[in-house]
Amino acid sequence: MTPAATLSRRFVEAFSGHPRLWQAPGRINLIGEHVDYCGGPVMPGAIDRSVTVAAAANNTGALRVHTPLGRATLPLDRFTANGDWRDYVAGMAFALAEAGHIEALQGHDLIIDSTVPVGVGVSSSAALEVAVGLALSDGGVSGAELARIAQRAENDFVGMPCGIMDQFASACGQASHLLLLDCATLECEPVPFPEAARLVLIDSGVAHSHATGAYRDRRADCEAAAASLGVTLLAEVADPGALDSLSGNPLKRARHVLGEIRRTRQARDALIAGDLAGVGKLMNESHASLSHDMEVSTPEVDRLAGLAQSTHGVFGARMMGGGFGGSVIALVDAEAEAEVCAQLSAQWSHASGQDATVFSAAIGQGAGEIVP
Ligand code: GLA
Repeated sequence: MTPAATLSRRFVEAFSGHPRLWQAPGRINLIGEHVDYCGGPVMPGAIDRSVTVAAAANNTGALRVHTPLGRATLPLDRFTANGDWRDYVAGMAFALAEAGHIEALQGHDLIIDSTVPVGVGVSSSAALEVAVGLALSDGGVSGAELARIAQRAENDFVGMPCGIMDQFASACGQASHLLLLDCATLECEPVPFPEAARLVLIDSGVAHSHATGAYRDRRADCEAAAASLGVTLLAEVADPGALDSLSGNPLKRARHVLGEIRRTRQARDALIAGDLAGVGKLMNESHASLSHDMEVSTPEVDRLAGLAQSTHGVFGARMMGGGFGGSVIALVDAEAEAEVCAQLSAQWSHASGQDATVFSAAIGQGAGEIVP
């Protein structure tokens, strides 16, 4: 029995009616970190691991949800935040309704499953939001609109002031392509991922504790820098010389953002030219800037990135996502993939004293209906 057929059968056993099935993937980000909320370009892609949802309307005004993390009945007329997965699910119902899709409040039965690893920085939460968004709107909202609504659910109902990158990659990803996404306009250029390369993720094992507060502070520094420079978003600053009027944290953050915008554009050109060494060098520079200027790395993550960067067969490596833990992403020569994974796994297990999680991520398709 396929996983989709199993999910369908579980639904029929738990609830009545016939469900539709939806999936939304996690994401990687090659380069363009901590620039989405500044209106800059990012280069994420969907991965081949997804949240799947079987769903049907129940017209009770409540969400009845079964997930691997637990079961819950969430009455939408008197829901209060819990600080856990339930906020993402109910938050999507509210964000959809606010955007005019009031059918999301009629009540649904949902069975949720996932192959997206949690806590390693591949946006399992964005995948959950997007998959639930498709389910609660019966597929009526998709693409960029769904990404915006999912971002709003996370900003307003979960309380994480994230940008649009994770939700957009999950909603709009294209198989075998990275997305060069302009986060100010949501214009998006698919960039073919080279066949000669692979993406390897190494979990640092460092939990993102207190990450939301620190992320909020970085975002505030960027907004302060933009305000002193007289722009709404830092990406609007055309001349890096303008930063001379800044000092302290706003200067460091703005220097990262403008540098990362340049590196992301250069990485797009290098990818198209097949210059994998060039892309790798930009990834290494991105890590250094995230560590020194954005100050979102940790000593362990710096050590892991350094280890990956010096491994034979790795073009470049850097921390990925919001930071303060999570994973390092490495761009790897396809022919050396198995050896790189084995080496990094052995070396990071030894260095960290824990079993290392190392895995290759293929670039998969974005969210949609699973047609059995
Ligand atoms: C987290 C956020 C994203 C983005 C990254 C940093 O993943 O959810 O919106 O800001 O951090 O690039």
